[in-house]
Amino acid sequence: MKFFIDTADISEIRELAAAGFLDGVTTNPSLIAKTGRPIRDVIKEICQTIEGPVSAEVTAIHFDGMIAEGERLASIAANVAVKVPSTWDGFRACRALSQLGHKVNVTLCFSANQALLAAKAGATFISPFVGRLDDLGLDGMEVVREIRKIYDNDKSFTTEILASSIRTPLHVKQAAIAGADIATVPPAVLRNLAKHPLTDRGLESFLADWGKTGQAIL
Ligand code: E4P
Repeated sequence: MKFFIDTADISEIRELAAAGFLDGVTTNPSLIAKTGRPIRDVIKEICQTIEGPVSAEVTAIHFDGMIAEGERLASIAANVAVKVPSTWDGFRACRALSQLGHKVNVTLCFSANQALLAAKAGATFISPFVGRLDDLGLDGMEVVREIRKIYDNDKSFTTEILASSIRTPLHVKQAAIAGADIATVPPAVLRNLAKHPLTDRGLESFLADWGKTGQAIL
C-alpha cells in the first residue's frame, strides 16, 4: 500500500519526503485555506517537492466550472491530480478530464455505488472517507472492503482505492488489510505508525545494559 500525506503544509511534506515515505500528497480546500496562501503557489511548491501525484480540488459545483478549474489546476504541473466531488456533475467532469489525459481523484466518496461510477468514469483514484463515516457511527472501512471487491470483480477497472479521512494508526492497518491501494494520512498519524511503548522500553533496557559493557561499536 502506498502512502500519501493529507496536508498542504510544505515543511511537513519536505520532511516526510526526505525520510522516503511519501508516494503522493492530497489537499482539499480546507487544507489550502489553513496555509493562508494562493492555491496555485501552494500546489506548485508541493509538485516541485515530490514526484508523485498531488491532488488539488476544484471548488466549482457545476460541470463547466469543474472542467475550467480542473484544466487550470492541471496546468500547474504534470503531477497534479484534479480532485472532483462524488456528485453527478463531478462524475461527468471526471470522465471529461480523464479523456483529456488528466489524472482525476474522485473525492467525498461515501458509498460503493459512488466508487462504481467513478471507475466507470475513468477515475485515477477514488477517495472513500473512512473517518467521516465512523464519525456517524458507521463502519467506514466496510466501504473500502466493498469497493475492493467491486473493483476486483471487473478487471477493466483501473481506478486505485485511496483510503481517505484516515484518523488513526488502526485505520492505516485496516486499510492495508482491506486491500486499499493507497492511504492518505495526516503527518501526525504517519509518525505514530512507528510508535510502540514496548519498543521504547526495550531500547531503554538494551542501552542501559550496553552502557555497562563500556564498549562502542564505532
Ligand atoms: C482526502 O483527500 C481528504 O483531504 C481528507 O482525507 C479528509 O479528511 P478529514 O475527514 O479528516 O478532514
